[in-house]
Amino acid sequence: MIKLQRFHNLLIALLCAPIAAIAADGNAVIVNGGANPAAIACVACHGEDLKGNAEAGIPRTAGLSADYIVKQLHDFRAGTRHNAMMQAVALTLSEDEIAAVAKAISAKPGVNILVTAPTNPSADSAAWIAMRGAWERNIPPCTSCHGPDGMGVGNTFPPLAGQPAMYLEAQLHAFKGTPAGNVAKRGSKAKMLATRYNDPNGLMRHIAASLSDAEIKMLAEYFAAMDVSDTPVAADRIFLK
Ligand code: HEC
Ligand code: HEC
Repeated sequence: MIKLQRFHNLLIALLCAPIAAIAADGNAVIVNGGANPAAIACVACHGEDLKGNAEAGIPRTAGLSADYIVKQLHDFRAGTRHNAMMQAVALTLSEDEIAAVAKAISAKPGVNILVTAPTNPSADSAAWIAMRGAWERNIPPCTSCHGPDGMGVGNTFPPLAGQPAMYLEAQLHAFKGTPAGNVAKRGSKAKMLATRYNDPNGLMRHIAASLSDAEIKMLAEYFAAMDVSDTPVAADRIFLK
């Protein structure tokens, strides 16, 4: 009887023992998804090498900063960045999985951005706004934050170079907060209608609100067409991201 009692106690102790936390495996999340089946494998949409899908407007994530990826996943979760697909994924990943997957994605080979020597852009072209800005409308040059040719800088400023034009255009409209073509709703109302308001100090919202829809399209195409390659060419012009 005593023996049985001890066995019983042992059983209870075993059952109640805190299950040792199993560290999330970032690469497994990329390929198989999270523990929750709703956290679909990243490769399903971002592509096997996580270089994105231009036709579907899905961005490259390979090689992005881990801090930036964590921030975006938290922002999708909080709803300060709207996207039905990514909100579902971000909401169903655990914090451990978010940290692990961000680290694994940032370690994946990105792309080589062949930064071109600065040229003399013609006024009002995409290159002009990208490199010189439009100060009369408080638009700083895109490259002052996003780096030469939009290659991305540190943990805060994501790369624009080589991202799908459709994606870049959609993001600028999400910051601007007005449906494409609806310029009439700019101003204070536009902020309320923004579907991406995760930018520190409203940096991108201010800029996007000052850009016309035609300029947004032009800039998206300009950065998407940047010289991006998987194979290094001239060593002095290559920046691996
Ligand atoms: C069902 C398709 C789908 C799946 C699965 C998916 N994504 Fe995404 N992801 C998208 C789309 C679409 C976007 C663009 C969202 C937008 O327009 O704001 C995106 C954007 C992102 C971004 C923002 C990139 C940037 O430059 O700001 C990150 C980070 C990201 N995804 C990470 C992940 C991770 C990590 C996984 C796997 C756990 C994953 N995604 C799985 C479709 C998907
Ligand atoms: C003052 C700094 C600054 C300037 C200038 C700037 N940006 Fe940004 N931009 C940011 C920051 C910061 C983010 C990331 C916000 C976040 O945390 O999600 C961003 C994000 C973006 C994104 C979303 C990228 C992605 O992967 O999701 C696009 C597109 C973009 N900027 C385009 C532009 C363009 C085009 C210009 C020039 C007209 C420009 N930016 C100028 C700071 C800047």
